[in-house]
Amino acid sequence: GVSAEPTSGKFYSGHRVHHVSTERTRIRKDSGTKRLINEAIMNNDFLKKLEPQHTREMVDCMYEKIFAANQVVIQEGEPGNYLYVLAEGFLEVMQNGKLLGQMRPGTAFGELAILYNCKRTATVKAVTQSHIWALDRQMFQSIMMRSTQARHAEYFSFLRSVSLLKDLPEEKLAKIVDCLEIDYFDKGEYIIREGEEGNTFFIIAKGEVSVTQSTEGFPEPQEIKTLGVGDYFGEKALISEDVRSANIIAKENDTQCLVVDRDNFNQMVGTYEELQAYLREYVAQLSINDERRNAATQSP
Ligand code: CMP
Repeated sequence: GVSAEPTSGKFYSGHRVHHVSTERTRIRKDSGTKRLINEAIMNNDFLKKLEPQHTREMVDCMYEKIFAANQVVIQEGEPGNYLYVLAEGFLEVMQNGKLLGQMRPGTAFGELAILYNCKRTATVKAVTQSHIWALDRQMFQSIMMRSTQARHAEYFSFLRSVSLLKDLPEEKLAKIVDCLEIDYFDKGEYIIREGEEGNTFFIIAKGEVSVTQSTEGFPEPQEIKTLGVGDYFGEKALISEDVRSANIIAKENDTQCLVVDRDNFNQMVGTYEELQAYLREYVAQLSINDERRNAATQSP
């Protein structure tokens, strides 16, 4: 029969396969799409263990395929050539003709054959016309082969440019690199809400955000500043279980933040008294500046 997974197709230029570590076809995607793929990967027990940078590359390199109703996406027993994320539509999973389950948008699948080099463990069929993001095996392998060292160096130099982290000892910074995740926001989206509990720290990697705060005499929160690439917010959450002191709102579509979760951070960095002390000092300094600013605005 006809394979559900042709080894060549309109998206490929055959030569690319040989440029394993260099040329990479990236497909532009809106932030909603990137988030859908990212979350699908994070919700998959096998894929969520991948490094954030690998996940990010996978998100960038996936391209869209459309399957008609009743079309087979994956055929049980065949070799696997693609990893997929369902964006739109509805799929059925079958094994030996028996229905195993269904898949809704935001699901990653086809990971087993790609990750473990085994035959497809199940058949996946489109019930309705479905839009599916695909990543081919060579691309996946090329992304995975990218040296951890290169990735580290990239994040490292970025984090070094973040004022809060620039004086941090090298090994602490390396640990932070290990527990970074990336999140995407659309224009107008609240990243942080004033008054809510917070346990994540954000560094802006792309875009701009607006910082607003409730202000006496105004019905609406007032913008107190904007932050851009290399700026950070939510740092108090790394020190204490503090309530958020301001709103943070994305000013652009596809605003990207590197995110460090406090628990994750504690776990990865282990004893982080040094950084804690450093942050405490830093936040104390911020408070002093706030007081000065308040004093300045209150004086006639
Ligand atoms: P893979 O074996 O590469 O191809 C078939 C895919 O179906 C498999 O990866 C999983 O992503 C998915 N799959 C396998 N078993 C199940 C199941 N019991 N329920 C839902 N999805 C499954």
